Amino acid sequence: MSALLPRIVVLATGGTIAGSSANPASSAHYQAATVPVSQLVQAVPALGDVARIEAEQVAQVDSKDMMFGLWQTLAARVGFWAEQPDVAGIVITHGTDTLEETAMFLHLTQACPVPVVMTAAMRPSTSLSADGPLNMLDAVRVAACREAVGKGVLVVLNQQIHAARDVTKGHTSAVDAFVSPMAGPLGFVQDGYVRFAHAPSRVTVPRLAVPGDWPLVEVVASYAQPGRVAIDAMVAAGVKGFVVAAAGNGSVHETLAAALGDALAHGVAVVRSSRTGAGHVAIPVPPRPAGGVFVSAADLNPYKARVLLLLLLAADPALGRDSARLQDLFSQY
Ligand code: SIN
Repeated sequence: MSALLPRIVVLATGGTIAGSSANPASSAHYQAATVPVSQLVQAVPALGDVARIEAEQVAQVDSKDMMFGLWQTLAARVGFWAEQPDVAGIVITHGTDTLEETAMFLHLTQACPVPVVMTAAMRPSTSLSADGPLNMLDAVRVAACREAVGKGVLVVLNQQIHAARDVTKGHTSAVDAFVSPMAGPLGFVQDGYVRFAHAPSRVTVPRLAVPGDWPLVEVVASYAQPGRVAIDAMVAAGVKGFVVAAAGNGSVHETLAAALGDALAHGVAVVRSSRTGAGHVAIPVPPRPAGGVFVSAADLNPYKARVLLLLLLAADPALGRDSARLQDLFSQY
């Protein structure tokens, strides 16, 4: 290991990349988040040719169980390591299931003076053809690449580099599960060669604060004959914002629209995303529900839109009563 190599910190949070199974032929039946990061790093000797690795086990969770407390811890560890003068980049290993939400959270909150690169795996570490080792190596290569500076939080899997804001998990099990439906990948990693083909958008907007108190923000969906019981109950329970996984170009069933209109009149923020998986949701035009509009999430999917709404409402709870300003912010971020 050479002292001239860049120092890269690997922050591990669990997931399938740290998963193990008694049956290497099965990628479906395994335990996520069992293998310590020291072992994951040891399993990829080629890392030593690329960087001086420092590994920290921040958590060991299946990402389906992600909580805001872990996001706060992760943000603090990213902030700590990014300030160390000799750290060239940070890699975060994560489960694939909610990676896109954590990536969005970090994208919105971290200024990233050094590259912050998330990676994961679709197959557990003990699997035949495990994808974790190459993903880890490629993520470290990107984190050590000077061209990655200033591009915000990046996500590297399956030899592709994605922007955190754009990437989503688009398949239950394939190794090429991660896609950026509206923007495409930013670049590629091939045989150790890092190539950026595009610049990410919206990386220069001011970062948002990591909340101390998190407002209640929920995702609801529009579909045939929805009920309004759940929405009314959630408003009564103190929900401050809804993201609707709406049909098509942000269309909300009239029953749901009536319930959400009542919520809006009580100062609850309502944002329309689309359940289609791609496309920009039209900015609302009159006629509007009394007291405001159902804001467009632009091209953010419902789960990414929820992360943005969480952070915006935490910073300014009055936004639920100012849909014009909320729309401006969604158009900006
Ligand atoms: C997880 O998200 O932690 C489990 C699934 C995966 O990483 O693919």
